Amino acid sequence: MTNPTVQRAFAPDLLAGQVALITGGGTGIGRGISLALARHGADIALVSRKLANMEPTAEAIRGLGRSVLALEADVRDREAIDRAVGRALEELGRIDHLINNAAGNFLAPASELSENGWRAVVDIVLNGTFNVSQAIYPVLRDGGGGSIVNITTRYVATGAPFMAHSGAAKAGVLNLTRSLAVEWGGDGIRVNAVAPGLVADTEGARRLVETIDLVEDYRLQVPLGRLATADEVADAVLFLCSPAAAYITGVELAVDGGAALGGHFKAAAEKIKAFYEESKRSRAH
Ligand code: HXC
Repeated sequence: MTNPTVQRAFAPDLLAGQVALITGGGTGIGRGISLALARHGADIALVSRKLANMEPTAEAIRGLGRSVLALEADVRDREAIDRAVGRALEELGRIDHLINNAAGNFLAPASELSENGWRAVVDIVLNGTFNVSQAIYPVLRDGGGGSIVNITTRYVATGAPFMAHSGAAKAGVLNLTRSLAVEWGGDGIRVNAVAPGLVADTEGARRLVETIDLVEDYRLQVPLGRLATADEVADAVLFLCSPAAAYITGVELAVDGGAALGGHFKAAAEKIKAFYEESKRSRAH
């Protein structure tokens, strides 16, 4: 799904001549980001553990007339990442943007999480983000600058019951975003984060909804009254990669319909309104 308003808001050649490397770029939010950047002129290097997860997105990017590489590498494997970055540079000629989107997550109570389960998620999310950022840093620096966008999550701000592993790792990514923004700003490298709320139209979200229907409970806490689309998250990434964000670094941009703003009041709005109307009536008598 493409958001027509944003299609008009950004020029189609916004990122023309530039190259973006997107981890986990073949599926879910990552696919939305890859297509949004490609639609706005960027050539794309997809990095993911499985080639099969990248092929349909690579095909769609080719259909947009952009160059695309699908590179098999696990973000936990620094040597594989170095090779992938090297190939992207060699075959696409440059790299201007890195989107650290690859993630791993599952629902489990913290008291029962195995050591391996904790380590797998922290390794993918936090160590993976660090690995790819460090691997790409000299390329961005030597190319005269660029941007990194890390995908965090709304629950960094709130804690993450049953996702303590993912929440802690993503909170680490937010702090890393700020540290790297300070360290690498002098090299012309901007480092920002995008924090999505629950997204409606990805395979991961569908899986979650099929397992336990959280959507209605969640939706009631969102001031804008609905879940995000992958395209809406992608549009925020596109903005942060663009010259319109040239003076923006170290920020976390929430794309959550306002969900981080104490949504329990929104969920209780009908009851609060009834209470208010009742007290207004009794004051009037
Ligand atoms: C309990 C689990 C588990 C589950 C894995 N583990 N899945 N424990 N419940 N559902 C445990 C395993 O038992 C194992 O520990 C350890 O985690 C490592 O699992 P592996 O499968 O060996 O590891 P690996 O192949 O590296 O898999 C990584 C993974 C997996 C993250 C654990 O789930 C995965 O690849 N998922 C696909 C990517 C993904 O999850 N994307 C979602 C991102 S969306 P033991 O002790 O048995 O060895 C997102 C937003 C969600 O993050 C928003 C929700 C509101």
